[in-house]
Amino acid sequence: MNLSRMVATAVGAVWALGWAAGAAAGESVLDRGRYLVTIGGCNDCHTSGYLQNGGTVPESEWLKGAAIGYQGPWGTTYPANLRLVVAGLSEAQWLQHARQERLPPMPWFNVAKMTDADLKAIYAYIRSLGAPGNPAPAYVAPGGKVTTPYFVFVPQVDKTQIAAR
Ligand code: HEC
Repeated sequence: MNLSRMVATAVGAVWALGWAAGAAAGESVLDRGRYLVTIGGCNDCHTSGYLQNGGTVPESEWLKGAAIGYQGPWGTTYPANLRLVVAGLSEAQWLQHARQERLPPMPWFNVAKMTDADLKAIYAYIRSLGAPGNPAPAYVAPGGKVTTPYFVFVPQVDKTQIAAR
């Protein structure tokens, strides 16, 4: 092999490596987003039936929001359809939006501490999920009329147990 051919081969190899790394990185951002969404528990609330069925809901249904409310002193909240939320935001807007204070039981204080890279991976992943579907029901203020099923997030006290103490 003459020198110019060796150089050309080396350049080709470096280019191929760079391309492969780029392709892998592109793929791994989505893998990272899927991983973070899974271990971050986002599906537990934002995917209908996920919590109740041991996480067996197919990925095609993930993060479309839920129509069962969470009721407490804050009123009744519904886990948003995150596909719709990210569809309407640029990546930069998402970084701000995802870190805003929310009503319970949304663990916004944990999400707010995610790194930019992690939040960007979640953004890319949710955008890759496809057809957003319908919005979750709207927030109902305390005392308002709630027309969906809801969980009551208020600590209960069993008076018979206390009396027996
Ligand atoms: C325990 C249930 C629960 C979990 C777990 C949860 N969320 Fe939420 N999330 C909610 C509820 C309920 C709301 C609506 C809060 C409100 O109305 O202020 C919400 C709202 C949001 C919003 C604002 C949506 C909008 O209307 O623009 C974002 C963004 C969000 N969640 C992202 C996430 C991400 C990302 C994760 C996982 C890391 C996650 N959530 C985990 C319950 C949850």
